[in-house]
Amino acid sequence: MSTPADPRREVGGTYFVQNRDNLEELSRLHIQDRMLTASMGGVLPEQGDPARLRRVLDVGCGTGGWLVEAAKTYLDIERSVGIDVNRQMIAAAHQEAQAQQVSARVQFRLMDALQMLKFPSDSFDLVNQRLAMSWLRTWEWPKMLREEWRVTRPGGVIRLTEVAIVTESSSPAYLRLCTLILHALYRAGHYFNPTPDGLTSQLVPLLHQFGVENVQTRLHAVRYRAGTAEGQHFAEDMRLVSRTLAPYVRKWGQMPDDYQALCKQMLQEFEQPDFFAVLNVLTAWGTKSQPPTKTASGREQP
Ligand SMILES: C[S@@+](CC[C@H](N)C(=O)[O-])C[C@H]1O[C@@H](n2cnc3c(N)ncnc32)[C@H](O)[C@@H]1O
Repeated sequence: MSTPADPRREVGGTYFVQNRDNLEELSRLHIQDRMLTASMGGVLPEQGDPARLRRVLDVGCGTGGWLVEAAKTYLDIERSVGIDVNRQMIAAAHQEAQAQQVSARVQFRLMDALQMLKFPSDSFDLVNQRLAMSWLRTWEWPKMLREEWRVTRPGGVIRLTEVAIVTESSSPAYLRLCTLILHALYRAGHYFNPTPDGLTSQLVPLLHQFGVENVQTRLHAVRYRAGTAEGQHFAEDMRLVSRTLAPYVRKWGQMPDDYQALCKQMLQEFEQPDFFAVLNVLTAWGTKSQPPTKTASGREQP
């Protein structure tokens, strides 16, 4: 067995799909975006007062579906910006904004979020980041959150959504694939622990560590079943995952000799009438504290 590469020596992109011109990954993200937003009950299901969120940043926006849907749902959003490091994603996101007639309020910009975010401080009411497990490594979280904190206005919201690796499913082949992906994610540095909740368990401590206040969470345990539209989207997403993530599993994890047979078996098990899988999606969010206000005498009031 070959020794996995050292993630700290990696150059270039950190995304778990390395082929930048991968149309399969583009269509997978499109499916996954709709599937996740629908199964969570919308773009901001847990935010009590979304009308106050007028300027929104989406970090690692992919095909832009989340931001476009947010602009369509919340007409109070005046300006929203999605950033992604991949040109193809940005082009697809532009197209989506135009098709949905929100391009006057929604912009997409090519930007590497691992560098400084190219926005002035206090620019946004909401900074959203979903599924950064695919590109953000454990030692990059502090810098990322510091930057997100900087561009959020005092009183604004930082919102993180990640999924745990699936452990509940009727499909043994799918569970085996999940274990292979988990090991690759951990060895590549995308997971803090080699456990299914190796990232979701860290979201709250990370937000606290960066001084985010009023931290709250909402867990969505989404059950996908055979014979439903959601179950079909899930199966298609996983079919594509098993293809697009194969090089990543080979590089960072342990690629079994029977990988192709495993994927085929998984697709067959998805077709069984009693098929189910439970996906745990965790959103953690909190607010950037307001600076202390000054009295007429120049004294700070908490
Ligand atoms: C799994 S997708 C999630 C897309 C979207 N957030 C969603 O939930 O539908 C992750 C996205 O992050 C982008 N990405 C990877 N590395 C990045 C970086 N350094 N800066 C900005 N975006 C990045 C990828 O190109 C990809 O579009």
